[in-house]
Amino acid sequence: MTLQKIKPMENYDLYPMIFKRKSIRTYDMVPLNKKILQKISDFLNSLQPMYDDIITEFKIIPHNQVKRTMRKAPHYIAAFSENKAHYLTNIGFMLQQMNLFFSANEIGSCWQGIPQPIKEVKGNSNLEFVILMAFGKAKKTLYRMNKSEFIRKPLWKITDITGMKELLEAARLAPSSTNSQPWYFTGNENTIHAYIGNTGLLRRFFAKNLLQIDVGIALYHMKLAAEHFGRKVTISYSPTAQTTLSKRFTYITTLNI
Ligand SMILES: Cc1cc2nc3c(=O)[nH]c(=O)nc-3n(C[C@H](O)[C@H](O)[C@H](O)COP(=O)(O)O)c2cc1C
Repeated sequence: MTLQKIKPMENYDLYPMIFKRKSIRTYDMVPLNKKILQKISDFLNSLQPMYDDIITEFKIIPHNQVKRTMRKAPHYIAAFSENKAHYLTNIGFMLQQMNLFFSANEIGSCWQGIPQPIKEVKGNSNLEFVILMAFGKAKKTLYRMNKSEFIRKPLWKITDITGMKELLEAARLAPSSTNSQPWYFTGNENTIHAYIGNTGLLRRFFAKNLLQIDVGIALYHMKLAAEHFGRKVTISYSPTAQTTLSKRFTYITTLNI
């Protein structure tokens, strides 16, 4: 078996990837070599949680342990979590670090909301299976050449905050299930409340879990941008934030900058 040559994994500068990453759906099915998989596994073990009191587990599994896939990748990350408040948003926040890390190291990846691991994989964890991320050597181009290639809503549709452009732009470009971009942000220069926004009722019902993961992804992009610009960020739940917007918006959490 021939193993591909991929640059040694060493790029941990994730912020620039926000502006060039894209989902990869066509892979070279030759497995990545052991050294690279070890680096991936090491980074996987160092992911920052959004809430550190939620137990999570991440497993790298081969394609033959995944079902309901249209297009296969050689490897998948299966994310598991304790089922408690904010666990889906937490997984979005954590696994998006992997998505950017893969981009930074010239490996393709794609969130996978529909495929599922086989029952033996699910049975091997005490935690609830949440979602998969496919990864491997990309057969097509890994990056967007510029921001105009992102099909995204304009900023004014996802926020009423006038400042904090760098943070909100990072959220705007985040990936989401079926590119629905369900997030909405209110607040000011120091406090940004994140909501699941005005998505259709059907989507709210059938893709409820994915929407919460999506918001976690956007929150990670915002945190990364804040840190890039030298700001410190904490995340907390504000009991009064739900009441500030209409009922069509579901409050998720707050970024304190
Ligand atoms: C939670 C989540 C689930 C997703 N599920 C799938 C999937 O099952 N199949 C797929 O091809 N893409 C999936 N995607 C990728 C999105 O379609 C993609 O992120 C979106 O269209 C934006 O494109 P981009 O990632 O290239 O910027 C998923 C993305 C997210 C965030």
